[in-house]
Amino acid sequence: MGTLVIYFSKTGTTRAVAEKIAEIKKADLVEIKPKRPYEMSYGKTVLASMKEIFTKARPALAMEIPDAQKYDRILIGFPVWCGGAPNAVLTLLDALDLNGKHVAVFTTSGKTKPAKLAVKLKKSYPEAKWHKPFNANGMTEEEAREWM
Ligand SMILES: Cc1cc2nc3c(=O)[nH]c(=O)nc-3n(C[C@H](O)[C@H](O)[C@H](O)COP(=O)(O)O)c2cc1C
Repeated sequence: MGTLVIYFSKTGTTRAVAEKIAEIKKADLVEIKPKRPYEMSYGKTVLASMKEIFTKARPALAMEIPDAQKYDRILIGFPVWCGGAPNAVLTLLDALDLNGKHVAVFTTSGKTKPAKLAVKLKKSYPEAKWHKPFNANGMTEEEAREWM
């Protein structure tokens, strides 16, 4: 069984990292696409994100949910939003059957590292086997190869 790289990206930083990781791992690559894209300013997106966190929103997605059963490893990439995972990523995680899957996250950010948000995700989705998160800011190919 193979590896699935699944990612969300608003401005392309995480997309570039996800594409590189998928290439290195020879993985399938899927983008998380919210039904209502965040086509707005940074400030407005921060407000929208805070509202989603506060209301525990699960924004609808405009994409086919991948079949997790086809994979044994799932790598999930996203930008850190307000210290955590964007809620659209949580919509996807809720929809995936992660039972027994080896799962890890990689993030890009201004500076926040993923350690704390990874602990939260592990608590929210205990059915998965969580591995060390990867801070992909300024990622080199060597670092990506070493991770997992
Ligand atoms: C709504 C929002 C919230 C953000 N919150 C954080 C944060 O808490 N910590 C941080 O270091 N960067 C934060 N950022 C910066 C992004 O994580 C960073 O620019 C990221 O690399 C963008 O990835 P993308 O180009 O794939 O969308 C935030 C950006 C947005 C739009």
